[in-house]
Amino acid sequence: MRRRTVLAGLPALATAGGAAGAALGAAGCAPAAGSAATVALPPQLRGAEPPVAAELVALDTVHGRPPGRAELAALAAAVGAAEPDGGGIALGAAAFGPAAAGGDGRGSGTGGSGGTGAGGGTEVRPRRLRDMPAFPGDLLDPARTHGQVLVQLGGRDPAQARERAARVLAALPGWRPRWRAAGHRPDSRVVDGRGLARNPFHFTEGFGNPDGERATAERTLVRPGDGEPEWAAGGSYQVVRLVQIAAELWDRDSLAAQERVIGRRRDGRWLDGTPATERPDFAADPAGRRTPLDSHVRRAAPDRRRPPPLVRRSYSHPEGLLFSCFQRDPVTGFEAVQHRLAGEAMATYLLTVGGGYFFVPPPGDTWLRAFA
Ligand code: HEM
Repeated sequence: MRRRTVLAGLPALATAGGAAGAALGAAGCAPAAGSAATVALPPQLRGAEPPVAAELVALDTVHGRPPGRAELAALAAAVGAAEPDGGGIALGAAAFGPAAAGGDGRGSGTGGSGGTGAGGGTEVRPRRLRDMPAFPGDLLDPARTHGQVLVQLGGRDPAQARERAARVLAALPGWRPRWRAAGHRPDSRVVDGRGLARNPFHFTEGFGNPDGERATAERTLVRPGDGEPEWAAGGSYQVVRLVQIAAELWDRDSLAAQERVIGRRRDGRWLDGTPATERPDFAADPAGRRTPLDSHVRRAAPDRRRPPPLVRRSYSHPEGLLFSCFQRDPVTGFEAVQHRLAGEAMATYLLTVGGGYFFVPPPGDTWLRAFA
């Protein structure tokens, strides 16, 4: 298995050595005693550039009950065998048993509510893992939303990703696909440490992401002390949104109008002339004359000194965008941005029909012990 470690000079991650180290140890690759804490990124987050093609398959057990440790171990092994380098799995709320009745919508783990099924009485569900709610304007199709597990397989082209997904499914008759989606990244490339691609609106996407694995780890990985179950340290919340786009409507607009909707030029440069990899000064444009106040980037990241704490790794999809992002906390990450995007100029062109909230376990296999 390819293993990239991020040297964590990160103070807040310094104590992650225990959890991440345990995971590494389980994979037969324990860090040297006394070494600085290291953090291994889950496969879905490794490398500056995501695989050019990906196949996402949400699965449920055939028996309908939450999966047990043996079923999850077999699934993880099948994914690892199909794609040793970048295939990954993520757990939906349903993998942990029924959601807490009358809960606060931030998962379980307090007051003995819910999330106990898989752990045989232990609180194991990541605290902020719940079913993805419908946001204003969403039209979620239940047949394309949620899932006990999300399997992600990459490939050098769509055919390879599809073939890997077929291999995983063939090895696991105990699981049935709930929904699946194929994605690809046209013009995928790395510039200044960031993976860029052309999105279905023909715009360059990826500039707002961090420029390296250390910063990626900082924005995405759960740390000890986050109030999460111990096993979850080093894992990450994944949010997937299947977004349909009104391509014909979009393509009728002039390029200048499109750029005002996004808030950047097609190639990523800012509307006030600031180079793509630098920070524009929105404070100097309070009325939004250069970069409109309802543009996507201005809503998504209004304070250039404090970028949203998430990392996007999205794919183009035949219907639009297979949006995917990773974060330490879906409430302060994805949801905070999504709420700010309500009413953005781009909303006219978008309809979210599926996806889900998932939790990517830390590398290694010690997380499986959380399951009965
Ligand atoms: C079809 C849907 C979407 C399209 C076409 C789209 C497109 C873009 C583009 C072109 C950029 C500018 C380049 C870049 O920084 O990557 C961008 C930035 C960004 N988008 Fe989206 N996006 C979509 C949905 C979303 C959603 C659902 C979220 C999160 C809730 C989101 C969050 C962000 C963030 C955080 C940035 C970076 C802003 C910055 O730091 O400047 N986007 N998006």
